[in-house]
Amino acid sequence: MWNDLAETLDDLQRRGRRRRLRRVKIEGVHLIDDQRRRLVNFGGNDYLGLAAELASAIPAVGSMGATASGLVCGWTERHQQLAQRIADLEQTESAVIFPTGFAACSGTAATLGRERDLILSDALNHASLIDGCRLAKAQCIVYPHRDDQTVGRILAERRGEFDRVWIVTDSVFSMHGHVAPLEQLCDLADQYQATVVVDEAHATGVLGETGSGACEALGVKHRVPIRIGTLSKALGGQGGFVAGPQVVIDYLINHCRPLIFSTALSLPAVEAGILAIHQIDTQPQRRRRVGMLARQVRQALGGRCDGVESGVPIIPIVIGADQAAVDASQRLYELGMFVPAIRPPTVPEGEARLRVSLSAEHDDQMILRLIDALKKL
Ligand SMILES: Cc1ncc(COP(=O)(O)O)c(C=O)c1O
Repeated sequence: MWNDLAETLDDLQRRGRRRRLRRVKIEGVHLIDDQRRRLVNFGGNDYLGLAAELASAIPAVGSMGATASGLVCGWTERHQQLAQRIADLEQTESAVIFPTGFAACSGTAATLGRERDLILSDALNHASLIDGCRLAKAQCIVYPHRDDQTVGRILAERRGEFDRVWIVTDSVFSMHGHVAPLEQLCDLADQYQATVVVDEAHATGVLGETGSGACEALGVKHRVPIRIGTLSKALGGQGGFVAGPQVVIDYLINHCRPLIFSTALSLPAVEAGILAIHQIDTQPQRRRRVGMLARQVRQALGGRCDGVESGVPIIPIVIGADQAAVDASQRLYELGMFVPAIRPPTVPEGEARLRVSLSAEHDDQMILRLIDALKKL
C-alpha cells in the first residue's frame, strides 16, 4: 500500500540522504545523545543560553493550553502583555503572537502578498517564507541570494505592473550566517515605493544595541515596517511574532489563516516569552558575550572580524561532499562535541557543511577546544 513512499525513502537511503529524528536530552549547553554520550552542544539555537533558565523560572500557570484560537477565547491578558513587550522591543505600534515562527513567516507572506502584488524573495530565505510566498496570491520572483542589484533591476523594469511590492528576506540566513543587505533593500524600497519585510528569527535577542535584531544593528529599524521573529531561538522558548503598524497587525488578525485557525500560544510559552524579553532588556552581557565568541571563532578560522556579520553566532564550515561533512561531524563527536552536518536539500548541492551555533553559555574552554578541533579538520 505504501510502496511508493517506501521506494522514495529507499532512494534517499541509497544516496545517504535519509533523515531520522534522533532522541536526545538537552542539559543546558550539553546534549546527551541516544548512546548516552554527553556532548557539548554546538547545534542548538539557544544563543543566549536562556532555555534552561526559563524552564525553572516561569511561574505556575492556571492552564497549560490556551484552549482556543486567539479570536475565540485563547488570547489572554498575558498574551497581550507579551505582544506589548515585543512591540516595545521592536519600537513598533503593535505586535501579535503566533504559535510558531514558521506560522508567523508563512502566514504573513501568504496574507500580505495579494493579487496584483509582487513579492521579491531572496533565494536562500527560510522554508517558512518560501512556503508563504507559494501560498500568496501575489506573483513571486526569487532573486539571487543578497543580490540587491537584481532587485533594483526588477523594480526598474516592472514596478508599474503591480499594486504593492514586498521585498521579503531573512535578516540572518540560518545555514550561512550571512546578513541581508538591508540598507540597500530599504533604499530600493524608498525609491520604488516597496515595503521591506524581514524575518529576524536568528537575530532577535542577539544583534543590535537593545537586542531587537539585525535591522537595529544596521540602523534600518525604522525603515523596515514589518519585522517577524521567533521566541524559539535566542529567546529560549517557543512561538513566533509579527511586529509592525497597527493596521498591518489588525489585517493579519482578520486574514492570516495560521493565526485565525490555530490555537493561541500555550500559556507556559507566553510566560517564557515575557521572561525572555525581560532578560534581553536587563542582561545585555549575554548578547555581548555570544557576539564576542562568534568573532573569536571566526578570527581563529581566518574569517572576517568586522561588521555586524562577524557577531552572528552561526558559523558554517563549508566542506562540499555530503560524506565528508558527515565524517567531519563524526570526528567532532568523538572529541565530545555535537556539530551537525547540514546536507542538501537544506543547503545547495555540493555545499554540505558543518554548522556551528554558539551560545553565551559556552565557556572559554569549550570554545578553545572547538577551535582546536576545527583547525585540525
Ligand atoms: C530563518 C527562520 N525563520 C523562521 C523559523 C521558524 O521558527 P520556529 O522554529 O519558531 O517555527 C526558523 C526556524 O528554523 C528560521 O531559521
